[in-house]
Amino acid sequence: MNDLAGKHIVLGLTGGIACYKAAELCRALVKEGSTVQVVMTAAAEQFITPVTMQALSNRPVYDSQWDAREANNMPHINLSREADAILIAPCSADFMAKLLHGRADDLLSLMCLARPIGKVPLLIAPAMNREMWAHPATVRNVAQLKSDGAKVFDVGCGDQACGETGDGRMLEAQELLDDVIAFFQPKTLLGQHVLVTAGPTYEAIDPVRGITNLSSGKMGFSIARAAREAGAEVTLVAGPVHLPTPRGVKRIDVKSASNMLEATVGCAQIASVFIATAAVADWRPDNAADQKIKKDNSGEVPRLTFVENPDILATLAQSPRGKSGELYCVGFAAESQDLLANAQAKRLRKGVPLLVGNIGPATFGQDDNALLLVDAFGVKDLARDSKLALGRKLIAEIANRIGARGQA
Ligand code: CTP
Repeated sequence: MNDLAGKHIVLGLTGGIACYKAAELCRALVKEGSTVQVVMTAAAEQFITPVTMQALSNRPVYDSQWDAREANNMPHINLSREADAILIAPCSADFMAKLLHGRADDLLSLMCLARPIGKVPLLIAPAMNREMWAHPATVRNVAQLKSDGAKVFDVGCGDQACGETGDGRMLEAQELLDDVIAFFQPKTLLGQHVLVTAGPTYEAIDPVRGITNLSSGKMGFSIARAAREAGAEVTLVAGPVHLPTPRGVKRIDVKSASNMLEATVGCAQIASVFIATAAVADWRPDNAADQKIKKDNSGEVPRLTFVENPDILATLAQSPRGKSGELYCVGFAAESQDLLANAQAKRLRKGVPLLVGNIGPATFGQDDNALLLVDAFGVKDLARDSKLALGRKLIAEIANRIGARGQA
């Protein structure tokens, strides 16, 4: 996907060993569809050369406010006017201190000061030693930069180039890319807390065997990411899947339907939206054996009996918060045929305001899907697309509906 198509980003590098990560970040930004203009301070050039950054961005690098290539000799004006954002990665402690004082004695700081503040956001990816990061001066500076309107990304925690361990590393290129993409998404769910279930459940037969299904969890993870991008607090209750946790999302791993119910009910107290994408097993073996069931060569095969699992969605939809609409519940229907009729019937059966239908066998494990939204007012098709794109569209639809609920 080209999530940054049409965007032009000025990537500023200041002095720090994390400059090596800026090379990868530049590549990632370009790959995601944006054009990138690199601007470097003299200190950054001690760590990585403009030749490398030019090769990766496919544009000459700027490093001086006296650069005569610009006809008016004002690179600080020209470069900032065409940007959709200025991203400083890495941003040193010294450069943050400089920014908040409005100092402007090199091209990058001059450009940040001269940018049209309401039109060109300033994104900062700090990178420094853990003591520098924890120093009261830095803490103060970060707070001031935020209140001046800059977006300051988190720092990573771990081994540092100096040999120490702690907070202050610059985030990895992929993490920063995700944060930049999220920054540009509309913030339609600010102030909301979204709870998502995703993936299959695993119902034990004995300690080494169990019953599960083909759900990959990708749709639910994409929805959790999209909700986070839209500004919500997000909790993701995930069955056994091998997927990375979307940035900024709180994840709770569970195995069985009973585990999922317990985790979900606990989190639902503070949630305002619940999206049930999990393919919860409808039944579980009646009584799972404590020890492995052994083959005894008698020719006898074990006979399994089942009990029904709790219905997590129906439980929450029928709870007082669900019924009053304080918790807006969205169900999914994985069907193999008659999608519309099944989805409409399931919406009424589960008692939810919105039900999203999809054809299970056509989507399990895939990166794309097609959705059918069914609510009390009608039906809406979301045509086949990537699961992330559909997740964003679904979040926009939910935001519209709970916006309308807020005004009702
Ligand atoms: N669901 C749930 N708990 C269950 C079963 C389902 O929370 N024990 C949720 C799913 O996460 C989904 C919706 O209910 O949002 C519908 O799931 P689905 O498996 O399609 O429906 P079922 O209730 O199993 O109905 P049917 O067997 O008729 O398809």
